[in-house]
Amino acid sequence: MTATTSDIDKAAGVLRAGGLVAFPTETVYGLGADAEDPAAVTRVFQVKGRPPTHPLIVHIAGVEHLSDWAEDVPATALLLAERFWPGPLTLVLRRGRRVPLATTGGLETMAVRVPGHPVALALLSAFGGGVAAPSANRFGSVSPTTAGHVRAELGDAVDFLLDGGPCEVGVESTIVDATGDVPRVLRPGGVTREDLQEVLGRPLAVHSTSQVRVPGRHPSHYAPRAQVVLVEPGTVIAEAERAQDLGRQVGVLVPPSFADAAVKAHAVVTVPGSPADYARRLYGFLREFDQQGCDLIVASLPVEEGLGLAIANRLRRAAGPRPAE
Ligand code: TXA
Ligand code: MG
Repeated sequence: MTATTSDIDKAAGVLRAGGLVAFPTETVYGLGADAEDPAAVTRVFQVKGRPPTHPLIVHIAGVEHLSDWAEDVPATALLLAERFWPGPLTLVLRRGRRVPLATTGGLETMAVRVPGHPVALALLSAFGGGVAAPSANRFGSVSPTTAGHVRAELGDAVDFLLDGGPCEVGVESTIVDATGDVPRVLRPGGVTREDLQEVLGRPLAVHSTSQVRVPGRHPSHYAPRAQVVLVEPGTVIAEAERAQDLGRQVGVLVPPSFADAAVKAHAVVTVPGSPADYARRLYGFLREFDQQGCDLIVASLPVEEGLGLAIANRLRRAAGPRPAE
């Protein structure tokens, strides 16, 4: 059921009182707090079990508010904001004074975006301020793309949950570091590199390994409980069946070109042929495998262009570091 105006007013009141509101965005559900309230933001980190050095994204109601939050916004950043907001693009910029260090994980930079979901936008205008929100899941696990996922994972730890239906995009926003002379991608996501390059008129580097990794703990991210192994598309079925024969409970993501094959595994999903459909459903598939009791997921990487780049990034991170790393 989609949130009503009265739900949105209640949620804005919860934010004003320092509480936590889970809300839909076009990418994934967020766990929101008043971005200017260090105590509320600290609770977000506690509920997620996330180290306080991992900065949050500040969600704002429109590009016209950007200069209230960030300082020294370069012309290229403004160009990207005007072209892609509301939408799945996050910009890293210099932190404005109203953004507390609790929100930025102690950094002098901040991440900011205008989400492209009507419920998120209504919440932001009813609240009137910025909402700091990571994805509404426990640290390291799969991001939620329905209100049901949030309820199952965070339950009573959230003060209010706004339901906006299933998320359209399904993977998180693209994060672009726009603090330097040359923008670069820190995390591939819902806005494709190709679309960014077209607007910028030049190639864009992807540096998606910049995220902090705590040695020994949380070896993977965006990860289901089941172990994820990545193999070549042509060997997915054979690998899945081999592991199943060895006694594993295997979930398999069958590449679209093998859609009609019969596969002997615990749970079988054929990957949608369209990258947009695959991105929208990826996290749901991973959660479903966990629910069905799979202990191993066998998958291959899609072609790394368009949304395929973000899907491949999430599957790699879910699989965790290779033994040599
Ligand atoms: O689509 C999304 O971006 C979702 C929805 C809820 O908006 N949010 C999301 O938040 O994915 P989270 O917290 O799961 O991921 C935020 C990422 C983190 O990897 C963090 O390291 C990065 O943004 N980040 C935040 N501030 C940063 C900064 N100042 N410099 C570099 N990276 C930053
Ligand atoms: Mg997250």
